[in-house]
Amino acid sequence: MADPLVLGIETSCDETGVALVRGDELLVDAVASSMEEHARYGGIIPEVASRAHLEAMIPTIQKALGEADVDLSEVDAIAVTAGPGLVGPLTIGASAAKALSIGLNKPLYGVNHVIGHACVDQLVDGPLPERAMALVVSGGHSSLLLVQDIATDVVELGSTLDDAAGEAFDKVGRLLGLPYPGGPHIDRLAREGDPTAIRFPRGLTAAKDQAKHAYDFSFSGLKTAVARWVEARTDAGEEIPVNDVAASFAEAVADVLTAKTIAACHRNGVDTLVIGGGFSANSQLREMAAKRCAEAGIDLRIPPIRYCTDNGAMIAALGSAVVRAGVAPSALDIPVDSSMPLTTVTV
Ligand code: KG4
Ligand code: ZN
Repeated sequence: MADPLVLGIETSCDETGVALVRGDELLVDAVASSMEEHARYGGIIPEVASRAHLEAMIPTIQKALGEADVDLSEVDAIAVTAGPGLVGPLTIGASAAKALSIGLNKPLYGVNHVIGHACVDQLVDGPLPERAMALVVSGGHSSLLLVQDIATDVVELGSTLDDAAGEAFDKVGRLLGLPYPGGPHIDRLAREGDPTAIRFPRGLTAAKDQAKHAYDFSFSGLKTAVARWVEARTDAGEEIPVNDVAASFAEAVADVLTAKTIAACHRNGVDTLVIGGGFSANSQLREMAAKRCAEAGIDLRIPPIRYCTDNGAMIAALGSAVVRAGVAPSALDIPVDSSMPLTTVTV
């Protein structure tokens, strides 16, 4: 029997994503973004994002079905992001998914957005091995997950205690006077700079942090260190070597992310690492992860960037994995959960 056809809906932040997946095959991935509306505010405005999702939802569903030449009646199951994310945006997606589930009389699966970022790799690189490590890094999350079974058994080893990696880049971008979001701009400048020029702090890497925070991240101290460094030079009337600041800052972030992740792989006997989330576009992280994973004998899997930013494919992929694993569907009255635990694959 053919694998079920799963429609996935993602609305946790500013991207309205709708995709169709059968097994591990992606049929279509349609996306509408409200990022342009947020850029002028220098951050995501939840109310603006919610309205944009509401307007984009039906057209994006129709676009996905049209491009895949699939009739809604052929869909076997609906998967939707239940959390974590922004409550208003999540509610728009969940409401659409519930309406489809009732209208089509097909099961609903409320799934975890962060785990979706790891699962989408299956559409590109094939099924994950029995145990894998996932590093999910974006503007909203920086988490290390031990994936024992993507549909049923995910352990959260650690997360950021303050800023996410992308968020730290955006904040440092702001203090360097770069446009929002600053992440890609810092990446570009960093490629022209010397990563060893300034030794910025590596959060939670001291011996005293090993017991409690071996797999947690903290970037707010680093961001403050960059601010202080820039302030001191400015007060002294010196020019800021922006490329070197960017390169040294990016080096510190990539160093902590890769060192902790590879240590987690070793300690848990895992030799496959998936990196997902929008921040995985970062060149410094990619280069360091490739080099250190090769040295450590770890198989590194990073999907193309269009599957790393928020999208419907990741939710349809996780929905497909969950349906095939025989997990029970969600109740039609499931709430959305802005801080959904990363150990909860489905609700
Ligand atoms: O997953 P994503 O598209 O959405 C959010 O989680 O918001 O991630 C976007 C984040 C932003 O913080 C952005 O500045 C950062 O990832 N980002 C980058 C790069 N590309 C995107 N940061 C550093 N280097 C990049 N090349
Ligand atoms: Zn995300």
